[in-house]
Amino acid sequence: MDTSKLISAAVLTFAATSVSVNAADTAEPLYDRLGGLRGITLVVDDFIDRLVINAALNKNPAINAGRTSSPPPYLKFRVSQLVCEVTGGPCKYTGKSMKDSHAHLNISEEEWGVMASEFKKSLDKFQVSAAEQQELFEIIGKTKTDIVTRP
Ligand code: HEM
Repeated sequence: MDTSKLISAAVLTFAATSVSVNAADTAEPLYDRLGGLRGITLVVDDFIDRLVINAALNKNPAINAGRTSSPPPYLKFRVSQLVCEVTGGPCKYTGKSMKDSHAHLNISEEEWGVMASEFKKSLDKFQVSAAEQQELFEIIGKTKTDIVTRP
């Protein structure tokens, strides 16, 4: 191979490698962009406070009973631990699976929607940007099939 062919082969190889470096590879983990445990616990604290007083959710007797078996400080700890882990933080979630902790709660599509809109209020309150909110909703959304058990 002559020199010019070698150079063009090298350029092509370089071009092929550089396209694999995309934004996702270089972005800071979502955990850090949410402000780490400090940011996450502030949002979760506000979120759980909203959920436990929500009349639409408490109309469901199973959800209402869950407020006693899992009091707010316990839920705040567990949900923060989970969010920390799934956003790339240093925590290890040690609670029950989403299926095991929600199967008996008879959660509907509508109740899921109520939860999501309360979650958004907490994220807005702490000025989490739209991009980070969307990323977080995509991650949380994956638990829906384990949590919602009726239309
Ligand atoms: C409509 C939506 C939801 C409702 C009404 C709801 C309600 C509840 C209730 C009442 C409990 C306590 C259950 C009991 O003690 O019997 C619980 C536990 C829990 N929930 Fe949810 N939840 C919802 C969605 C979610 C989502 C989206 C997440 C996180 C992605 C989540 C994370 C947890 C965790 C980590 C626990 C504690 C598990 C354990 O005890 O180890 N929940 N939830």
